[in-house]
Amino acid sequence: MYKFFLLVFVMAVAIAGLGQTNRFTPGQVWTDDKGEVINAHGGGILWDKGRYYWFGEKRDRQLSRGVNVYSSKDLYHWKYEGEALSLSRDSTSEIAEGCVMERPKVIYNRKTGKYVLWFHLELRGQGYKAARAAVAVSDRVTGPYRYIRSFRPNENMSRDMTLFVDDDGSAYHIYSSRENYDLRIARLSDDYLSVTSADSLIARDHQEAPAVFKYQGGYYLITSGCTGWAPNKASLYTSASIFGPWQRRGNPMRGKNADLTFGGQSAYVLPLPGKKSDFIFIADQWNPKDLKDSRYLWLPVRWKDGLPYVEWKDQWSLAYTNAD
Ligand code: GAL
Repeated sequence: MYKFFLLVFVMAVAIAGLGQTNRFTPGQVWTDDKGEVINAHGGGILWDKGRYYWFGEKRDRQLSRGVNVYSSKDLYHWKYEGEALSLSRDSTSEIAEGCVMERPKVIYNRKTGKYVLWFHLELRGQGYKAARAAVAVSDRVTGPYRYIRSFRPNENMSRDMTLFVDDDGSAYHIYSSRENYDLRIARLSDDYLSVTSADSLIARDHQEAPAVFKYQGGYYLITSGCTGWAPNKASLYTSASIFGPWQRRGNPMRGKNADLTFGGQSAYVLPLPGKKSDFIFIADQWNPKDLKDSRYLWLPVRWKDGLPYVEWKDQWSLAYTNAD
């Protein structure tokens, strides 16, 4: 009898344990398959051949340490795949120790069969003055990525950034420019390795941390204000066309601390493959004293009257979805 109760108890604990890991707990410590805290800030996710790949900034307390990549089949459990892009040991390289690498995003080019990584690069010893976009490329999703070069897109300053691939395969670089007062969008070349001259203004609202997604033919953009590592109010923009005109639609965050984006700053919006209306809003809750200890906020995107909003949840799972 005693053994039977023990068995029931052990099974109950195991079931509760399984349930616990299959959920998102925004703002809590998130560990990988080795039990290490996930170090992938300002990141983005690529869905590739049945797996998700999470690319993000590898950080020390302050310094940039390259770009990390993790893989997952279910979005809850992440396996560390190593550094997708490492710092260069050549001290004359633009990506030698001391540079700043931020907001890495990877997209796959169907025409060339290559994975293309873009990030915001600041050069060693220059603070945030350089304001450049940088590109690296790989034949394998997890890398290692080969660094190509950095530049200012169409001579414009480029700090916070994201990439977006449209249904027709055309890709875009969305970036904060002119000391972050302008948000711009530039179409990438067919190989995704540079920008074309199709480059236009999205807004002059002093916004950064852009995250773009598409739903039912319309384009949606979530941004933050410009207060460094400190959280501020997010903004939603919508447009019928990727080159605009973009219309500002207010703060899409709802619930506790919504006016400070729950203490976070937008990084990416992940569309869930196979689902028509499910997206995950991904943000960083920065810890400027110890950047590697910055936490992640993953929250569900909901829809009301044709507009997306992001609602705070202490915990949630993918079962909490929009009715498709
Ligand atoms: C934020 C930006 C981050 C980082 C930080 C540095 O505004 O979104 O990516 O650049 O400033 O202070």
